[in-house]
Amino acid sequence: MNAFAQHDGSTNGDLKSIHEAHHAFKSFFLNEKSETLTTYKSLVSEVAAMIATQIKQQQQPYNGSSSASLLQKISTLELFPAKGKAMDVLLHQTRELIIESNISVYHPHCLAHLHCPPLMASLAAEMIISAFNQSMDSWDQAPVASMIEQALCEQLCKIFEFGPESDATFTGGGTMSNFMGLLLARDQYSKKHFNHDIQQKGLPPEASRFRILCAQHAHFTVAQSAAILGLGHDAVVKIEDDGLEETTAQLERSIEQLLQEGLIPIAYVATAGTTDFGSIASIGAMADCAHRYGMWVHIDAAYGGALIFSKNHKHKLAGIEKADSVTIDFHKLFYQPISCGVFMVKNKTSFELIRLHADYLNPEGNEALGLLDLVYKSIQTTRRFDALKPFLALQHVGTETFGDMLDYTIALAENISDFIEADPQFELAYRTPINAIVFRYLPEGDLSDTAIDNINDQLKTTLLLSGKAIVGQTRLHEKSFLKFTLLNPMTTADDIIQLLNEVKQLAKKLV
Ligand SMILES: Cc1ncc(COP(=O)(O)O)c(C=O)c1O
Repeated sequence: MNAFAQHDGSTNGDLKSIHEAHHAFKSFFLNEKSETLTTYKSLVSEVAAMIATQIKQQQQPYNGSSSASLLQKISTLELFPAKGKAMDVLLHQTRELIIESNISVYHPHCLAHLHCPPLMASLAAEMIISAFNQSMDSWDQAPVASMIEQALCEQLCKIFEFGPESDATFTGGGTMSNFMGLLLARDQYSKKHFNHDIQQKGLPPEASRFRILCAQHAHFTVAQSAAILGLGHDAVVKIEDDGLEETTAQLERSIEQLLQEGLIPIAYVATAGTTDFGSIASIGAMADCAHRYGMWVHIDAAYGGALIFSKNHKHKLAGIEKADSVTIDFHKLFYQPISCGVFMVKNKTSFELIRLHADYLNPEGNEALGLLDLVYKSIQTTRRFDALKPFLALQHVGTETFGDMLDYTIALAENISDFIEADPQFELAYRTPINAIVFRYLPEGDLSDTAIDNINDQLKTTLLLSGKAIVGQTRLHEKSFLKFTLLNPMTTADDIIQLLNEVKQLAKKLV
């Protein structure tokens, strides 16, 4: 008998026992029964209380559990038990094993990545999203949700002054948005210049000469996308720059060089807020330059896109409206729970390049009925109603206060950069235009660069393993640096100065 055969060979039980089983199943789902609803409400309040207690009690961003101790605890669990367990037992287990060992994104010393504390309204949205479980691929799975997402996309395009033909779609984040930008760039270029439909026929022979230009510090997903798109990592050409922001002259030189070599520059990716340094390219001028060569311009504004709502820093995005496509991540500087991203295109007909029809999902007749099946402009099929999070949160906070939050974090970063620059025990790598701080500890005495690198690397690891602080790490001009990403608008200058003092104490021990 194989593993899937019925264990006693009998046919399904009689109607009475089927009915009893059905009754028992009901307690595992939300339904109209008063007792189920009471259980659901008390479950939600127990979970909320557990989260609140953890956030109140958590003294440092991580409790310092070693990976070995976590592995040991996980290995004792029966992950797929034949008989279910009581929810209170599971909540207890979840608190002890998971919640207590989570990284706290609310703690002011959680500073390594573009990893934000989510806004309160978005936490409410998450509950609604999962309880109602709308799926954004088709109208018949998400009628009002599809229209809210579409309205938000259209409004965003207006805010970015992207023009009347623009459109957008929600994505799982910057990786997917950057991929979509380069996918459309590749397919549009091939169609326009070689009358070749890549979606239908695969890559044309010329594709081996396609090149994508970007800055040295562009996100790795540019290369990753090139690989997935069949162009290969070698198709990505990093523009030589002297600092952290490429210039039009450098872009032009790189393009000319490629043309001379018989290669085909199809796209340029500018970054508005590089991951490690927060640097922002001179977007408008760079876009004009790439457009003169007929290239697709994609702007990766996963980090910096939120500046559109900043009073003091919006100008840093000047020219973003010239792009052919843009990546915006709500789960970074828009304080949304993961996942939540947006991909915008200047010309909505670009989505036609990837449109597919499935009889079961988005039959052609639906459009005539006004039924919006959003699957046609996404590379995902089943998709969460993540748009509800910014929809609720931006209405709750208001764009003015939201902009003030960003301005506060950038002012804080400027303030701390001044502090670091004035201290001979630190070296500031670069004045970022956003809320990142890249610096390193400089020990006294005559130590080699390698020794200084080692101390800074160890600082990061020691802080992480003790759980005292989660700080970032990067390299510039062959040197190791530490990075604070000051996304959290609840963080104060005192919080950061206290950490810098701790860094010094620890460094002295390491030296
Ligand atoms: C500039 C930039 N682009 C793209 C990404 C990838 O975004 P995600 O992690 O949301 O997929 C990141 C991630 O940090 C990023 O900083």
